[in-house]
Amino acid sequence: MRVLSGIQPSGKLHIGNYFGAMRQHLHLQHENDGFYFIADYHAMTSNPAPDDLAARTFEVAMDYLALGLNPQKTVFWRQSDVPEVIELSWILSCITPMGLLQRCVSYKDKVAQGLSANHGLFAYPVLQAADILIFKSDIVPVGADQKQHIEVTRDIAERFNQTYGELLKPPADHILESVAVVPGVDGRKMSKSYGNTIEIFEPESSVKKKIMRIVTDSTPVEEPKDPDKCNVYALLKLVASPEELTQWRERYQAGGMGYGEVKKRTAELMMEYFRPYRQKRQELQNDITYVKKVLADGAARARAIARNTLNEVRNAVGLRS
Ligand code: ADP
Ligand code: TRP
Repeated sequence: MRVLSGIQPSGKLHIGNYFGAMRQHLHLQHENDGFYFIADYHAMTSNPAPDDLAARTFEVAMDYLALGLNPQKTVFWRQSDVPEVIELSWILSCITPMGLLQRCVSYKDKVAQGLSANHGLFAYPVLQAADILIFKSDIVPVGADQKQHIEVTRDIAERFNQTYGELLKPPADHILESVAVVPGVDGRKMSKSYGNTIEIFEPESSVKKKIMRIVTDSTPVEEPKDPDKCNVYALLKLVASPEELTQWRERYQAGGMGYGEVKKRTAELMMEYFRPYRQKRQELQNDITYVKKVLADGAARARAIARNTLNEVRNAVGLRS
């Protein structure tokens, strides 16, 4: 099966991104033909500073490679290195009803959060459809927040096929099984836009400091505590063995445990979890030429496929000489 997904380079990747999406992308690459890309065209919808956009794109590439993306097997590229998607996006735009896009909640949410209501942001789902359809993807693993965009993609593919003949493949969505939302240090959903993240590759000393400062309730040490309401336990759950987790659960419920103790252990386990990847990340940082080569090779492989679909589409719609 061809599995495709994109991740926006809109800031440094955090452990919410990792446990909520990246880890599952990385698992899926073993048994499928993985197509993963860094959605830098999409990131432009929030008007980043040019140097930030370039730097973040490259950081996302290094993060994915450090965390185990295998560029021999999986095609991995930067979206803007395959500009064919923009042409397909335009062609698809011309058969996409305004109403379909007006119903998309992600546009409304982003504008409500303060992003400028530009046309790129409005047309975002059409570009996403082009990303998916140009590679004839079978499955698109995404978080629940993206479900609607996959439905829009199917709708656009079906309209295209009805108008111009069966050419595009409506994808199945694959909603990533939710690891529940990873909370940030202030207890809200961990998110770049809330400034409450623990970045995957920030220095260990800073990871530790942040975990020690996670907001907890004020239940006194001696009293029993509810692990399922605790932000620290939510992180511990991601990295502790089942046996150790059971022990901590019992300690929460028995009383006599201070939050400082469980924070300390969570920080240790979190640092251990990412330590091997951290080394790899450092090696990549020291070998930028290699990272650039991976992206260039990925773009060449992706582009050949994209070109092919685009030629078929151009021919079908009458853009032929
Ligand atoms: P952010 O909220 O930091 O801007 P994105 O919206 O770019 O993150 O998320 C990219 C992917 O990471 C999405 O698939 C999303 O579902 C997942 N993700 C982001 N934050 C979390 C979180 N706190 N818990 C679980 N998954 C998350
Ligand atoms: N919109 C996705 C997100 O914010 C990123 C994305 C862009 C994407 N193009 C895609 C995801 C194609 C899956 C397939 O997470």
